[in-house]
Amino acid sequence: MKLKHAFMLAASALLSAAAFFGCNSDGKSGAADAPAKAAAKTKPLVVYWSWSETHNTKIVAEMLQQKTGADIAVIEMVTPYPNDFGGAAQAGQRDLQQPKAPAIKDMNLDISKYDPIYVGTPIWFSTFAPPVRTFLQSYDFNGKTVALFCTHGQGNPATFKYLADAKAAVPAINYFPEVFAHKGTEAANAGPALDAWIQKVSAK
Ligand SMILES: Cc1cc2nc3c(=O)[nH]c(=O)nc-3n(C[C@H](O)[C@H](O)[C@H](O)COP(=O)(O)O)c2cc1C
Repeated sequence: MKLKHAFMLAASALLSAAAFFGCNSDGKSGAADAPAKAAAKTKPLVVYWSWSETHNTKIVAEMLQQKTGADIAVIEMVTPYPNDFGGAAQAGQRDLQQPKAPAIKDMNLDISKYDPIYVGTPIWFSTFAPPVRTFLQSYDFNGKTVALFCTHGQGNPATFKYLADAKAAVPAINYFPEVFAHKGTEAANAGPALDAWIQKVSAK
């Protein structure tokens, strides 16, 4: 009995020491890791593109920025799509047929400072708008989580194609598996659903 007691005392002392010195399962010192972790501290980033007069995706993007304390950046095209629906639709369809189009302006982003990175688009032809694909192709997201969000006209199924097409365009990216989707005309009411999704992204 005494022997068992002594053994338990010794085991508990060892556990306390391990906790104090920050040893983890692979035996590396947590104290030594601390500066590296501090240096790797990142901030969320919200990036979006929005086209319509009501700027539904912009509304959700700005809400996300407020709720997460993120930095925010807007994707701008070198040659913007026309303002009329017919012209924009024609140009968007043309660009979707090309693997890498259209050109976007340099955003001067240091992606290494950010994680996660929220990327928003209006759904066009059941997928992302082409400038958003160009953005995903333009930066190195190695080691980052990219969480996609969108606004749409009618149907959620399009959001699955957004994820599938983003994966096809840039397979190397670590995409958060759930795309946040909200009806464009109800963008201003996205708050509660957005809160729930942000929690899931933050818990990744
Ligand atoms: C060219 C074009 C194509 C669209 N295609 C779809 C579509 O396939 N499915 C859908 O649900 N909404 C579609 N929409 C509607 C937009 O996704 C929706 O209005 C969105 O909220 C607009 O966002 P924005 O205001 O940020 O541009 C389309 C809109 C445009 C202009």
